[in-house]
Amino acid sequence: MLKIVLTRLLLLPVMPLCLAVDNVLPTANGIEIPQNYKNWKLIGVSHRLDKGSLRSILGNATAIKAARSAKTAVWPDGAVLAKLVWKDRRHPDWDKAVVPGELQHVEFMIKDAKKYKKTGGWGYARWVGQALKPYGANADGAEQECFVCHTAVKANDYVFTYPATLP
Ligand code: HEC
Repeated sequence: MLKIVLTRLLLLPVMPLCLAVDNVLPTANGIEIPQNYKNWKLIGVSHRLDKGSLRSILGNATAIKAARSAKTAVWPDGAVLAKLVWKDRRHPDWDKAVVPGELQHVEFMIKDAKKYKKTGGWGYARWVGQALKPYGANADGAEQECFVCHTAVKANDYVFTYPATLP
């Protein structure tokens, strides 16, 4: 008994190191939710009329550097793109404005031409809802689903978003 209690006490301080950012589990294809994505910068926005949702497309430092210097025909290794999706909501004080409501999912494309060769050089991962539940039951499923649809923009390095223009 004492041994069990002691073991538990010893394990306690170590446990947080074993968990991903904010205790979010990795996806079935082994991708961890990127650190610090909430502080990434904006690349573009999108409004899906069919899904009724607002999307914000962000990039890590490598992606932002490529986007700001118009070097996105082939995104560099290390670039990570994020898409954060919220349900449409009418602004409570201005009903002609649509603003972010409930968070639907956050998803990522991670560029590593060698590691993710079989899916066009991008690793794909999605986490669902405010609880950030990893999406996809098995290692191939989500990747294949994402990759198949993104193949529509193969000529643009599998990326739909064109960086929004800025002065
Ligand atoms: C049925 C088509 C479809 C599927 C399936 C799909 N996407 Fe996308 N994705 C899009 C479209 C269209 C955009 C452009 C932005 C928007 O309006 O949503 C996009 C944009 C993105 C972006 C921003 C970069 C870009 O290409 O514009 C990321 C990151 C992304 N998707 C990740 C994923 C992940 C991860 C999955 C699988 C879990 C996935 N997508 C599945 C159609 C799809």
